Amino acid sequence: MPVMPAPKAFVPPVNNLHEFTADQTEQFDDAHAQFADLRARCPVAHSADFEGFWVLTRYNDVTAALSDSDTFSTAHQNVVPRVATSGRRPPLHLDPPEHTPYRRAIMPLFHADRMAHWEPVVRRMVSDLLTPLIQAGSADICVDFSYRLPIFVLADFFHIPSETAAKIRDIGADFNHALQVRDMAKLEQTSLFLYDVARDIIALRKVHPLDPGTDPTSALLAARDNAGQPLPDEMLLGTIRQLLVVGIIAPTTFTGSMAVHLARHPEHFSMLKNKPDLIPAALEELLRLYTPYRGFARTATRDIEIGGRQIAKDEPIALAFTAANRDPEVFEDPDTFRLDRAEGRQHVAFGRGPHQCAGAPLARLMLRVTLEELISRSNGWEITGPVPMTTWPEYGPLSVPVRFL
Ligand code: HEM
Repeated sequence: MPVMPAPKAFVPPVNNLHEFTADQTEQFDDAHAQFADLRARCPVAHSADFEGFWVLTRYNDVTAALSDSDTFSTAHQNVVPRVATSGRRPPLHLDPPEHTPYRRAIMPLFHADRMAHWEPVVRRMVSDLLTPLIQAGSADICVDFSYRLPIFVLADFFHIPSETAAKIRDIGADFNHALQVRDMAKLEQTSLFLYDVARDIIALRKVHPLDPGTDPTSALLAARDNAGQPLPDEMLLGTIRQLLVVGIIAPTTFTGSMAVHLARHPEHFSMLKNKPDLIPAALEELLRLYTPYRGFARTATRDIEIGGRQIAKDEPIALAFTAANRDPEVFEDPDTFRLDRAEGRQHVAFGRGPHQCAGAPLARLMLRVTLEELISRSNGWEITGPVPMTTWPEYGPLSVPVRFL
């Protein structure tokens, strides 16, 4: 499939949002109530599901695991349940020091000078999407807006057509659905498609390289490993495959969570409208409260003891970010939105340690600009219909129908 420059007018189709796995019974607050219960009763819990796994729900346990990649490896599995058909996809699936060259290659793409480039680009995309919705007076914040924005960003990030990016998003949704329902044939098929797209992008950049400072594929092709050698083809392929989908779903569902919060709390909407300089701090507090990844996983590299429980070498351990971010031992009044939290009480919505989200600056930019534009262009909104939720490992709504006030 040839990869051509992006036509700007293309609007991605939205006909398969339902392919994201929705839990029709879960309500917006359920996950937090369940995690609070688990953390209080059994903070280091074991489940027999998926051939057995542990789950850590306390902030200090989760952050300790994230910071110790010698003991808590990502090389075997990064999610529960383990996806057996997938290849290794750096940087997430490698431990340091093998992980380091991949991370080194992509980090400059998220430096502050690149964000200065992205800010007007993202603001234009947000504006183009929001203007007709606000004019219409009603919209679905997820279906009409946050399902589309990351696709425009992905297309520009990889310098690929929006059609290809939309296809990647749709296939990514199918992949997620197959993972949830354990449809192994579909899982393999969708994963292979994503690898095909990654292969095409690499083939194109080998012939037509772009500036490694602005293009992820060219940056990885120019990168060298710890021995000064080019990155192996197979690992380069895995990295592009990882980058294609890693930044799509969380901004989609988290924007829905922000919309629900501001509809429930018009006093917070008014505060941010009157003082827009509080929006970055509000975004961090919303990320803490509505952490869009419930958790990622590690594997114990040796026998360990956590909270009085014995975890054996090779056992999988889910790190519940959503639970950690509302741990009352660390966050006073943890279920309340507060902008006066003490320094050093950093949330783990973007993880911690060597695998801390590489794309966090771009994610924060997208989300901040979204909040700024939604708040400055409206007087708030009310929710007009059901808010179906996505399932583990993500958290957040798949649909938030609203009427603008
Ligand atoms: C609200 C949006 C996002 C959230 C909440 C989020 C969260 C996370 C988390 C928690 C991790 C760590 C996983 C672990 O420790 O196992 C991670 C890793 C990663 N994220 Fe994000 N992410 C977001 C958006 C993005 C975007 C937009 C991009 C890129 C365009 C991105 C790229 C990455 C990459 C490359 C990694 C792997 C880093 C490594 O292993 O060194 N993310 N993300």
